Amino acid sequence: MELVRATEAAAIRAVPFIGRGDKLAADGAAVDAMRKFLGTVEFDGVVVIGEGEKDKAPMLFNGEHVGNGRGPSCDIAVDPIDGTSLTAAGRQNALSMIAVADRGSMLDASTVYYMNKIVAGAEGIGVIDIRKPIGENIRALAAAKGKPVEEITVAVLDRPRHAQLIDDIRAAGAGTRMLLDGDVAGGINAARYGTRIDMCAGIGGSPEGVVTACAIKALGGFIQTMLHPIDDDQRQRGLDAGLKFDHVYEADELVTSDNTYFVATGVTDGGLVAGVRRMGPVIRTESIVLRSRSGTIRRVIADHLAEKWLD
Ligand code: FBP
Repeated sequence: MELVRATEAAAIRAVPFIGRGDKLAADGAAVDAMRKFLGTVEFDGVVVIGEGEKDKAPMLFNGEHVGNGRGPSCDIAVDPIDGTSLTAAGRQNALSMIAVADRGSMLDASTVYYMNKIVAGAEGIGVIDIRKPIGENIRALAAAKGKPVEEITVAVLDRPRHAQLIDDIRAAGAGTRMLLDGDVAGGINAARYGTRIDMCAGIGGSPEGVVTACAIKALGGFIQTMLHPIDDDQRQRGLDAGLKFDHVYEADELVTSDNTYFVATGVTDGGLVAGVRRMGPVIRTESIVLRSRSGTIRRVIADHLAEKWLD
């Protein structure tokens, strides 16, 4: 639970940058806050998935040690803001998130920035296959869920690269939920009960794919991914790092440990959690905490005295 403080802090510190048009400044504030709070947590963490090269981030880089060095040895994946552009624009669905698992268990896919992913609830297990056409997967999932294809909604990042995917989803009779950003939340919503999303599909960040897998293991859902290098250089670097192309990475390969932990705090309001809100003397945050060991989803609403956050 201590880790929630780190995502809460990152979300709170990002608030002054919401809707200010500067995504690097928003990310920088969140990174600083998260790093500071992580230093107080009792664990020996190694950042396996950090801010990374894609975001040109100076801190919380891969290989950095975090935590106070005592306690369990863990891999940690951080995304101080998933949705930096959303934050800068003042749009919904920006989250601060952390995933933790036993040391050595998270796939280090940092050399290949993108993955193709399909995420769904437990009904997708043994039913969906990322190598098959999306229409076939939609029909199979609809049958497994016992509902008509017309009632299936697939979340997809709104990117030109997904034009064909979107056409195919609609041609199959399903609907799309276009995400401006944030396919981790899209994946979690696909795996959670009681949401309007049945599947999340398409190409998004590799780090986000591994983070999603940590959450999916706690939710008991389904995820498959395939690495998607954008050029020969990435392909070569991926091969040098021992990564496999034309290979389906299932949840157990993305994170081999069955002891995963995922926490996310809303920066701006979204379908998963509410964003940071100032209420008189307090700042309210909403977070979710997922643990694979217990299979629980906890919602944590915290009121922080605003005067403690003045500096
Ligand atoms: P950032 O906020 O770190 O930029 O990530 C947002 C995000 O939408 C992820 O959720 C997603 O996996 C990735 O970017 C997709 O990458 P791109 O924006 O390059 O298509």
